[in-house]
Amino acid sequence: MRVLGIETSCDETAAAVVTEGGDVLSDVVRSQVALHAPYGGVVPEVAARDHARAVVPVVREALSRAGVSAADLDGVAVTSRPGLAGALLVGLQAAKGLAWAAGKPLVGVDHLVGHLLAVFLRRGGAPLGDEHERPSFPYVALLASGGHTAIYRVDGPAIGAIRELGATRDDAAGEAFDKVAKLLGLGYPGGPVVDRLAAGGDAAAAADAVPALMARKESLEFSFSGIKSAVARHVAKRGRPEGQALRDLCAAFQGAVVDALVQKTVRAARAEGIERVVLGGGVAANQGLRAKMAAACERRGLALFVPPLASCTDNGAMIAYAGALRLAAGERDTLDLAPETRTAL
Ligand code: KG4
Ligand code: ZN
Repeated sequence: MRVLGIETSCDETAAAVVTEGGDVLSDVVRSQVALHAPYGGVVPEVAARDHARAVVPVVREALSRAGVSAADLDGVAVTSRPGLAGALLVGLQAAKGLAWAAGKPLVGVDHLVGHLLAVFLRRGGAPLGDEHERPSFPYVALLASGGHTAIYRVDGPAIGAIRELGATRDDAAGEAFDKVAKLLGLGYPGGPVVDRLAAGGDAAAAADAVPALMARKESLEFSFSGIKSAVARHVAKRGRPEGQALRDLCAAFQGAVVDALVQKTVRAARAEGIERVVLGGGVAANQGLRAKMAAACERRGLALFVPPLASCTDNGAMIAYAGALRLAAGERDTLDLAPETRTAL
């Protein structure tokens, strides 16, 4: 089975062709980051317009790189939720047009389900390029991106088999990185820059500027708005730090966010009695998170599965794969499929 996946929920126009076994035959991602950078965040109207410009060329390229035409496909999958309504609509229209014209089945995919299953994608050709192991069900997954931060119990690929165990009450983790980076004058998106600076910083040296995120011990919810406000107050009082002081502040901020993500993910796995932990979302690129999660899992005897970066950030392959599983289960959507801003999870 070969399925085309189209993703336009936020600021990446992406398309990919994937088999139901998870083999990635092509994966094209066109980022809008440079367009939104002057605004310090994603502007919905700008996103939708750029998706409209990019979606047809991106889909064409995905088909051509996979060496297939629309007639060879077994179905078309598209992100239908959650996301920016106008942005989702562009992908949906493209998917519907293609599915209708080629006479192929259409399936909508929940973007978060795509992220949670991205660990099964095989890039670069299995078995030789089979660069990482895959978990078996059930597993506990931490999904941390610019738009979402939550922990899930995943018993299978169907929506009904995925349960949210805890989520952020305010900002997403990536959003917190981006907002703090903006406060520090580091540009957008700020996660990678803060990560790089934090590597050369001493968290203890800036501990007074950043409170530890010690939420109620048993809670699996996150809250990142307080730490962002603490950094804002620090900058208002003392000005933007530079040099080593900047690196120390980044290390303290990142350390607090990472500690919360790691502690609660490990706590969730233990509470559920599950020994497999999976990471997903753009924040999974964070070196501090990868290192501390690996160490914590090792200590507790948990197996950690971290997909390659291209599978963690927004992409069409995870949508194609989740869609292929829906198609394989005999599920279909009609041309009435509408965008929804909220997840079904
Ligand atoms: O999953 P993603 O590509 O897009 C969505 O938000 O869906 O995630 C992007 C987010 C941004 O907030 C970005 O700052 C953050 O992931 N990010 C990072 C790192 N790389 C990307 N955050 C911390 N450390 C990183 N190395
Ligand atoms: Zn995403």
